[in-house]
Amino acid sequence: MSVITSRTGTENGRITINYEKCNACGLCVMVCKDFSLIMEDGRLKVSDRPLFGCLGCGQCVAVCPHDAIMVEGRTLSSADFEVLKSDNLPDYASLYQLLLNRRSIRDFKDKPVPRELTEKILAMAVTAPMGLPPSDVGVMVLEGKEKVRQFSFDFIDMLKKARWMASPAALKLMRPFIGKENYLMFKTFVTPMVNFFAETREKEENYLLYDAPLAIVFYGNLSDPADPYIAATYATLAAESLGLGACMIGSIGPFLKNMGSDFKKKYHLPPRMRDSITVVIGYPRIKYRKTIGRSFERVYYA
Ligand SMILES: Cc1cc2nc3c(=O)[nH]c(=O)nc-3n(C[C@H](O)[C@H](O)[C@H](O)COP(=O)(O)O)c2cc1C
Ligand code: SF4
Ligand code: SF4
Repeated sequence: MSVITSRTGTENGRITINYEKCNACGLCVMVCKDFSLIMEDGRLKVSDRPLFGCLGCGQCVAVCPHDAIMVEGRTLSSADFEVLKSDNLPDYASLYQLLLNRRSIRDFKDKPVPRELTEKILAMAVTAPMGLPPSDVGVMVLEGKEKVRQFSFDFIDMLKKARWMASPAALKLMRPFIGKENYLMFKTFVTPMVNFFAETREKEENYLLYDAPLAIVFYGNLSDPADPYIAATYATLAAESLGLGACMIGSIGPFLKNMGSDFKKKYHLPPRMRDSITVVIGYPRIKYRKTIGRSFERVYYA
């Protein structure tokens, strides 16, 4: 038995050791933080006292210099492991330059993103780390401006029905229960945002997903809440590396956690959705000339 995920249940990884190839170097034992592997009398063995049960993280297979160990199950198969290429790696300077060049892009050319590029973006996004393997992140792709628009307007129509909850009177009533910070967040951000979406939607304007030609929703199931955000971050960087522009859209996810069962049904999203984040992608209509200096709230060495 191992840790539960929505894709694997409690199945654990099946470990196979090829003793003809294994020279008992111990590298796999060192990297396995589940303690599924032990060295006993100079021989590699599968432990009968792991921490959880093999998680299928694949680290032991990836590190073995002699192809002497394989893990299958929990979505892994032998085809998932390929010897790494170490040429052509971006150095700090080139990666940093890509990150400095990235801006949130909200103005797109009326030009579709070819499926091939979407697949390249997803190929990078799926390499993101996750709280527990295998990734429990689901991905919904809205391809084409019309689909993105329909999704946006359906979402705004759903919001409009629940608009009373963000009205000044309802907020005043809720204030003692939601705390001062949440009250101010609603008052200064959520309420004006919902009203703005509703008013602009009447004019057939899409300020939710900015009429992008591509939108990708990353959502979590049983996963760590951070998982969809990390995959989405990778997707924005992948888009940047392909000459596209992207912007993360956080204004949909919080609502879908708590409402919108018909909307979720229409888009085949899970009824009990957890954290999610949307990324809009397309060819930028504008080019930024300058970097923007950023700072953290604080950095300190404790
Ligand atoms: C978690 C998250 C949620 C965001 N949600 C939205 C959003 O709903 N709408 C939007 O226009 N931009 C959204 N953004 C983009 C931010 O506003 C943007 O990253 C920020 O203003 C900094 O600008 P830059 O990305 O160009 O550096 C979001 C960014 C993040 C990281
Ligand atoms: S796949 Fe991960 S958890 Fe399983 S034995 Fe290998 S290193 Fe350990
Ligand atoms: S890393 Fe490979 S060769 Fe080394 S002990 Fe593990 S299985 Fe054997």
